[in-house]
Amino acid sequence: MQVKIVSENFDIPDAYTLKVAQENGRYSTIEKLFSMNPEDVTEEVVKSGLRGKGGGGAPCGPKWKLMPKDDPRPSYLIVNGDESEPGTFKDRQIFEYDPHLLIEGIICTSYAMNIHEAYIYIRGEYKFWSDRVDAAIEEAYEAGIIGEKVMGNDFSLNITVHRGGGAYICGEKSALIESLEGKRGHPRLKPHQKECEWFFGNPATVNNVETIASVPYIVANGSDAYREFGTKSSPGTMLFAMSGPVKNPGVYELPFGTKMIDFINTLGGGMQDGKKLKALIPGGSSCPILTAEEVENAVLDYESMWDIGSTLGTGGMIVIDDSANMVEVAKNLIEFYHHESCGQCTPCREGTGWIDKILKNVLEGSGSEEDLNTILDVCGTMNGKTICVFAPAVSDIITSIVKKFRSEFILEFNKN
Ligand SMILES: Cc1cc2nc3c(=O)[nH]c(=O)nc-3n(C[C@H](O)[C@H](O)[C@H](O)COP(=O)(O)O)c2cc1C
Ligand code: SF4
Repeated sequence: MQVKIVSENFDIPDAYTLKVAQENGRYSTIEKLFSMNPEDVTEEVVKSGLRGKGGGGAPCGPKWKLMPKDDPRPSYLIVNGDESEPGTFKDRQIFEYDPHLLIEGIICTSYAMNIHEAYIYIRGEYKFWSDRVDAAIEEAYEAGIIGEKVMGNDFSLNITVHRGGGAYICGEKSALIESLEGKRGHPRLKPHQKECEWFFGNPATVNNVETIASVPYIVANGSDAYREFGTKSSPGTMLFAMSGPVKNPGVYELPFGTKMIDFINTLGGGMQDGKKLKALIPGGSSCPILTAEEVENAVLDYESMWDIGSTLGTGGMIVIDDSANMVEVAKNLIEFYHHESCGQCTPCREGTGWIDKILKNVLEGSGSEEDLNTILDVCGTMNGKTICVFAPAVSDIITSIVKKFRSEFILEFNKN
């Protein structure tokens, strides 16, 4: 069931060191890379159908093409390793077990877009992982893999690691750039037309860690090889994280199109003894929840998840068993989002706080059916009216829990 493209070296002892990494294929794509035109590298990534793994699933190659051509300003690659969403813990596997794959991916991506400065933005709490990446970058500089002449080629590349300050919203690409510019991590208003990002007024591309780590395979083997896995519209693989009361929680690389229940029952080992599957949040905590019946039919690709009213997100699956109180699940989530709202937009800042207060009352036994209508109403005001998609995502997950598990909220009303 597993297909190891990004995770190929995860089980090799010490593969995070340059010596072992090189013995196991790292940097072997660079010779081929520099024999290609940068435009051809981008075309190959377009043809591969590689989609961003940071949550939105945007096609990667077309995004690279948004970078202006022949622009006199310096351009930047910003690698998003903020990974702060509950249930999502895949990028840190790359940092920990194969940081040289990420560096190789950064070289390929930078060459394709004629970029000479790259930043890796790492979650503030990820001290261990940030140190590991720093050590790998240092080794790469010392070996001449990056720096003035990338592996002896007439191409320079610097890579800098930046650790965030611990705010979930700094994973949103424009908030991340604000933070990297030394400002408060507030998302920016987006233009209607598609364009690249802007870092200190210079063209920039933001990609997720896993997206970048997928590029060397495509450069080395070609787009057709990548398309051998997955589905027509969701080609390739993804690192799926599984947490909760299953026998073997962890991170597994699977081709898109895998049945969710097969994944849970095989690699996940099934539910722990005495536990029954009740619900599942599929792609990090901001994706609409699935009931156990929906999980039976769910397929792990972007389109299939949209078809059943949820999203694939980051692939971080949170398994919930029948001992969980779904009102407590909703309260736990809203506390997080209330705390993490950046506060720029009234519907988000106030809405998350109101829902938090209402659910507190419900759990204290003083709720009523009217409260559920108020929650749904507040969720309605959070959807489509804010600067970034944080608020709509919160609205979707809370609405889905209230609608699918309404009876559990009613039980709380009747406790007193
Ligand atoms: C609230 C919020 C948090 C996000 N957090 C992350 C994150 O931690 N890592 C990430 O790669 N993308 C995150 N994203 C998505 C980024 O804005 C962006 O789409 C992504 O980094 C682009 O890379 P990709 O196309 O390779 O997926 C977040 C988006 C939102 C709205
Ligand atoms: S939706 Fe929320 S997190 Fe996003 S900009 Fe508005 S207040 Fe900030």
